[in-house]
Amino acid sequence: MTPTPVNPQTIHHAAELLRQGQLVAFPTETVYGLGADAANPTAVAKIFAAKGRPTDHPLIVHLASVEQIADWAETIPDTALCLAKAFWPGPLTIILNKKSDTHLGVTGGQNTVGLRIPANPVALQLLQAFGGGLAAPSANRFGRISPTQASHVAEELGDSVACILDGGPCTVGVESTIIDLSDGHPSILRPGRITRSQLKAVLKTEISLSPQTKIRAPGMMAVHYAPNTMALLCPADTLLTMIDELCANGKNIGILAFSPSVALAPCKHLIHLPETSEHYETALYSAMRELDKLQLDMILIEQPPENEAWAAVNDRLSKATV
Ligand code: TXA
Ligand code: MG
Repeated sequence: MTPTPVNPQTIHHAAELLRQGQLVAFPTETVYGLGADAANPTAVAKIFAAKGRPTDHPLIVHLASVEQIADWAETIPDTALCLAKAFWPGPLTIILNKKSDTHLGVTGGQNTVGLRIPANPVALQLLQAFGGGLAAPSANRFGRISPTQASHVAEELGDSVACILDGGPCTVGVESTIIDLSDGHPSILRPGRITRSQLKAVLKTEISLSPQTKIRAPGMMAVHYAPNTMALLCPADTLLTMIDELCANGKNIGILAFSPSVALAPCKHLIHLPETSEHYETALYSAMRELDKLQLDMILIEQPPENEAWAAVNDRLSKATV
């Protein structure tokens, strides 16, 4: 399956495929999603089969407008409307109590449902043309690195989708921030581009960071977003020592460098990632994929800063490394 260029005809065709219960991969601002009609249990089941994902892991339902929240959520707290107003369309997923007729296939058997309006123009055009909610996890095999380009989807899931809409590279590059508003105690289940401080500034209340154990989210598993190659995360000084030792032992290694000193290391497979957290997020998954293709013995990743702006990066790096 080669990616399809985006124009009004291909959007219309993709919406028609979705209405027929088929899978369509589409770009969002975060990562590419593997979309299916969220109201069609048979179509949703195809997502789990294509990804090799356990069926008790819930999916995010993507919407075109705030009014559609009422189609999926039982009650809509003011907090949800405030966050939607501040951050939608955008990289924020809001977990609410599901409506009784929201089928359990899309919620992984849970009484809550994850909702988001994405900020990518192609995603919005597709959602508008389709008219309903689109269930869409990241368009990768379960446990692997999320795709940030249409070619990544084609490589990994090309045989199982009816269409891949090519919207170019994703601008955000890491998955949405997930906030749980299902029980009056807001908590962040997954850090993303929208930070805890930004959410606190809007809600004017404390937001916990500890994931609620009653809600299972694949992104909360220890190993997730992982390359096939063994990857290690370490500070610059340790990393520079390891490069010398591994190269002396004839090992073929790849490096994701952050600081200028590590970027100068004598290594053939070195990618120097950007110095701001936003640009780093955008570049990270493509860089990991590039190194992962090279059949290396090991990938060494230099530890970037650990403050709040870097929360999403550090979350993904800790899950990608041993
Ligand atoms: O940026 C994103 O969120 C991307 C794009 C495509 O929108 N999607 C994405 O989907 O990352 P996925 O399935 O790879 O990860 C969605 C996360 C999972 O960890 C899932 O368990 C969690 O959202 N989630 C969805 N509904 C949930 C619910 N009701 N309760 C708890 N977690 C939920
Ligand atoms: Mg995913």
